[in-house]
Amino acid sequence: MSSCMRRIAISVAASTMTLSLAACGVLDAAQSGGEASPTKGDDITVGLLLPETANTRYEQFDYPIFKQKVASLTRHQGKVEYANAEASADKQAEQLQKMVDDRVDVIVLDAVDAHAVAEGVRKAKAAGIPVIAYDRLAEGPIDAYISFDNELVGETQGRAVLEALGDRAGGSARIVMMNGSPTDPNAKQFKAGALSQLNGKVTIAKSYDTEGWKPEEAEANMAEAINAIGGDNIDAVYSANDGMAGGVIKALKAAGVTDLPPVTGQDADLEAVRRIVSGEQYMSVYKPYPQEAEAAAEMAVARVQGRDIQFDALTEDKVDSPTHKGIPAQLVPVVSLTKSNIESTVVADGIYRVSEICTDAYAAACAAIGLR
Ligand code: BGC
Repeated sequence: MSSCMRRIAISVAASTMTLSLAACGVLDAAQSGGEASPTKGDDITVGLLLPETANTRYEQFDYPIFKQKVASLTRHQGKVEYANAEASADKQAEQLQKMVDDRVDVIVLDAVDAHAVAEGVRKAKAAGIPVIAYDRLAEGPIDAYISFDNELVGETQGRAVLEALGDRAGGSARIVMMNGSPTDPNAKQFKAGALSQLNGKVTIAKSYDTEGWKPEEAEANMAEAINAIGGDNIDAVYSANDGMAGGVIKALKAAGVTDLPPVTGQDADLEAVRRIVSGEQYMSVYKPYPQEAEAAAEMAVARVQGRDIQFDALTEDKVDSPTHKGIPAQLVPVVSLTKSNIESTVVADGIYRVSEICTDAYAAACAAIGLR
């Protein structure tokens, strides 16, 4: 006798037959994967909303890695509906609404404006669609958050500035700070992490926030800083990411600065890695994209398929947003990327081949640091 039949027999004795039969029916359907199962199988649609294209990581790494992982987790039956907001919060609100209208099964969201997007998150939730915040902590009732340790990113950058300054670190070394977008909570964390290292050790001569993380805006702000301070009086530039570091270096060159100060970055953009090889950029922060994007895909699929134990195992950290406390999260560690560890980071992880980094123009510089 099956356990279900046995329970029916007991129930009949207890005169509660109707209730128990219903309970057995649900149990059997769930066990056999029948139609009454409360969760989905492999034929699912995952919405992915990324914030912009001016910085290369999203289209080059985040999206393709995520898509590939969803496919492999769902025996190639799951689909990814992808939209990029091109740094516009309004556009992202429309893209999010479309995914709700399309009734995707789950949404993975990298917010342009973490505060403004909360309304859209609430609508998705009300429509029964879980939302997982990706990289930037969106406000509103999100189910979970996956990102890098963003405070650590800033600390790593700040420490690199001090290391590059060496003996010149001290109250009188003059720094320009090029921070990220004010609508991106990560930018605040990067800045706080960097300042935890720099405060009291350098003079912050100029500090800018950069709308939409736009490289050309960082370039314009840097030109202004050079005008105000004098190109040769800038001892180091804290740039929160590589795209902006490119703009900063352009502005320094345009102003005729030949002995470039150390400039920081983040993302391990290919152009930045080349600038590190040639000595134009001091460092970047390597964030292992596969770890973030694959974990996001696993979280999304586990949530839709109702695999709660796996979901919980993927989100053992806890973070607070301005609207919600104790959000289940995973924070991935990061690595400082300099001339000395290109091989053991981006090359070893298969992000770039040496031949991609070391094109003809960089062959001599690559050889000089033993990259071949
Ligand atoms: C990301 C960075 C990126 C920046 C600009 C931040 O939220 O964490 O990796 O460079 O946005 O897109």
